[in-house]
Amino acid sequence: MSEQQQPLLEVKHLQTGYGASQALFDVSLTVPAGQCVSLQGRNGMGKSTTVSAIMGLLPCWQGDIQWQGQSVVGLEPFEMARLGIGLVPEGRQVFPNLTVWENLVATAAKPNKKHTPANVKAPARATSSWDLDRVFALFPKLADRRKHFGNQLSGGEQQMLAIARALMTHPTLLILDEATEGLSPLLRQEIWQALATLRHEGLSILITDKNIKQLLTLCDHHVIVQKGRTVWSGDSSQFRADADLRRLYLAA
Ligand SMILES: Nc1ncnc2c1ncn2[C@@H]1O[C@H](COP(=O)(O)OP(=O)(O)O)[C@@H](O)[C@H]1O
Ligand SMILES: [Mg+2]
Repeated sequence: MSEQQQPLLEVKHLQTGYGASQALFDVSLTVPAGQCVSLQGRNGMGKSTTVSAIMGLLPCWQGDIQWQGQSVVGLEPFEMARLGIGLVPEGRQVFPNLTVWENLVATAAKPNKKHTPANVKAPARATSSWDLDRVFALFPKLADRRKHFGNQLSGGEQQMLAIARALMTHPTLLILDEATEGLSPLLRQEIWQALATLRHEGLSILITDKNIKQLLTLCDHHVIVQKGRTVWSGDSSQFRADADLRRLYLAA
């Protein structure tokens, strides 16, 4: 397989859990380079656990996680970040006592200076370079709020900041866990718009969210988990054609 066709991220039959409690039994998903993939499923089915395992926050008990064809099992979260994964965690987790500006520069990486662990190839293509001007162009609201503290922002502004912060690490893959949870419809729309822009610019995205309609518009592929197992995967037209999916796996 040529480098271009090789998936950016591949999770294969992943098993993991918390202490002795197994949460994932067989999760598989693929994020092709330059594409957008949704990870769906009801609450408690294993989406956040999958994201944590990908980021190296949880150990991989069985199965494999590959970045550009190389296993990254056992790497630390900071190493995953340096490889090119930017995480927007569930609940945003912006620094409350830092300003918007400080939040953005505190975790920013130098462009194109990624450290690559010895066993893993550097990204095939140069990744996008981000700076304050570019994130403020994507989220003008943040520019207006640059001197405000994290805890003075609305939920939507915090989510913009969390996305902007992840972009400042120059990711090849952006992972968003519950991308628009708890936001007003207007702010949700702004987040979806920004994600569409990022996708259009060629950023790869793995996203969890409850809004199926928006996920079908944004994403190329979809993966559904239930009780820690991948139970369905397919593209948007296959998703739309399968009337049972929502009832079986997604309806509350
Ligand atoms: N920190 C934790 N400690 C123990 N069990 C957890 C923890 N976080 C999640 N779980 C369990 O793992 C399973 C999957 O949860 P999670 O990945 O958070 O689901 P989702 O993100 O799809 O809502 C659930 O049974 C949940 O109770
Ligand atoms: Mg979750």
